[in-house]
Amino acid sequence: MVEVSTSLLSVKKGEENKTIFALEVAKTDYFHIDVMDGKFVEKNTYDKMFGISSYIKRISNLPLDVHLMVEDVKKAVDDFLAVEPNIITFHLEACKDKQEVYDLIKYIKENNCKVGIAIKPNTKIEDVYEFLPFIHMCLVMTVEPGKGGQELIKETLDKIKTLKKYIEDNNIEIDIEADGGINLATVDSVKVAGANILVSGTAILMAKDYKVIIDELKK
Ligand code: DX5
Ligand code: ZN
Repeated sequence: MVEVSTSLLSVKKGEENKTIFALEVAKTDYFHIDVMDGKFVEKNTYDKMFGISSYIKRISNLPLDVHLMVEDVKKAVDDFLAVEPNIITFHLEACKDKQEVYDLIKYIKENNCKVGIAIKPNTKIEDVYEFLPFIHMCLVMTVEPGKGGQELIKETLDKIKTLKKYIEDNNIEIDIEADGGINLATVDSVKVAGANILVSGTAILMAKDYKVIIDELKK
């Protein structure tokens, strides 16, 4: 059974309340919070995502799945711990060396939060292997990070397949989250590849009835 984490990147201004409530009713499993600093990626959604996260904390019990697309990971972790996320995921490519990766994993856990590592389409899946025993989730970007509404990059599915085989062969308990370009046309290939948490933004938020899409994605 896969879970769905709805990205709020494209939520319409002034419709946050309506959208969040409708997504709860539609039974999204998580709210996916795309934090962008305008440096790691071009767009800056930092304050918008902090505002939405704080708002969700006040009106919903659903867990926050925070995806940090930022250069200064430690600062963003400190800022977003304030909204008590279920998990904070940072990019391997934002870390200058392995020691920083391990320090961040430890820091996030010490603050009673689950931790994930995200990798961009061009990053080799093998680069994340050594960290897998210490984290809860690996986020495999199926689009270039930076914006919603992009086409899924097919080659990334092989990375998910390779990762799935590796964690099974090595008995590693970890979630595989696929993120970007996931819709009714691409979801089957992503699930067959082995992802068990699916991030979807555009496909869900553009739908008239969120539940129809979310149920289809979960099938
Ligand atoms: C892209 C984000 C994704 C994106 C997903 O940088 O990490 O979470 O918002 O949105 P769609 O489903 O529209 O690709
Ligand atoms: Zn994301």
